[in-house]
Amino acid sequence: MVRKAELARDRYYVLAKEQGYRARSAYKLKEINARFRLIKSGDTVVDLGAAPGGWSQVAKELVGDRGRVISVDLQRIAGIEGVITIECDITERESTIKAIRNVLPQRAADVVISDAAPRLSGNRAYDHYHSFVLSDSALHIAEAVLKPGGNFVAKIFQSEYYSGFYKSVKELFRDTRAYTPKSSRKKSAEVFVIGRWFKKPV
Ligand SMILES: C[S@@+](CC[C@H](N)C(=O)[O-])C[C@H]1O[C@@H](n2cnc3c(N)ncnc32)[C@H](O)[C@@H]1O
Repeated sequence: MVRKAELARDRYYVLAKEQGYRARSAYKLKEINARFRLIKSGDTVVDLGAAPGGWSQVAKELVGDRGRVISVDLQRIAGIEGVITIECDITERESTIKAIRNVLPQRAADVVISDAAPRLSGNRAYDHYHSFVLSDSALHIAEAVLKPGGNFVAKIFQSEYYSGFYKSVKELFRDTRAYTPKSSRKKSAEVFVIGRWFKKPV
């Protein structure tokens, strides 16, 4: 739990307030994209675990008027102009894929991004496993909706599940990287696994 006083001293929290982003995490996607160029103008982006919508705001800016953003979360996401929102549990993989396909024809996504994270329980083992399940669900959904050549990024907590997840991304993409943005909190265990150039699905 982050205290109010701590938030007021947090540079990215303050910046997000000033610049109209719904979450400080918006700056993580900005950093990731500045470095890896996952999202470009005109792209179709699927944002998993998207509430309250900071990443979706950034994704919409990056894709511009010709692009599309489809945002999925367990929680309702307040409207963002030009963004389609879906309320769905991404661990219910097949129903999430179906819901995305209702608004996107098959394999029409250029990029799948996931900042999904569990509500922390205080039980590290449980939280690590839950983070892995969310990341693995994001990868499964990406495999079903990405165009060949598409890009992927998902958050996962550093844990015993991390290397297995990295390996699974590596099997599906021609280039795989791990990255922790400067805007991630120092004490956070999160890391972002990036996959570029989705291999042709078999
Ligand atoms: C760190 S927040 C995402 C912040 C978001 N990227 C932003 O910039 O506003 C993590 C999100 O994951 C969502 N989440 C957790 N479990 C989920 C699940 N099973 N299905 C869909 N979303 C989930 C939570 O509801 C929460 O909104």
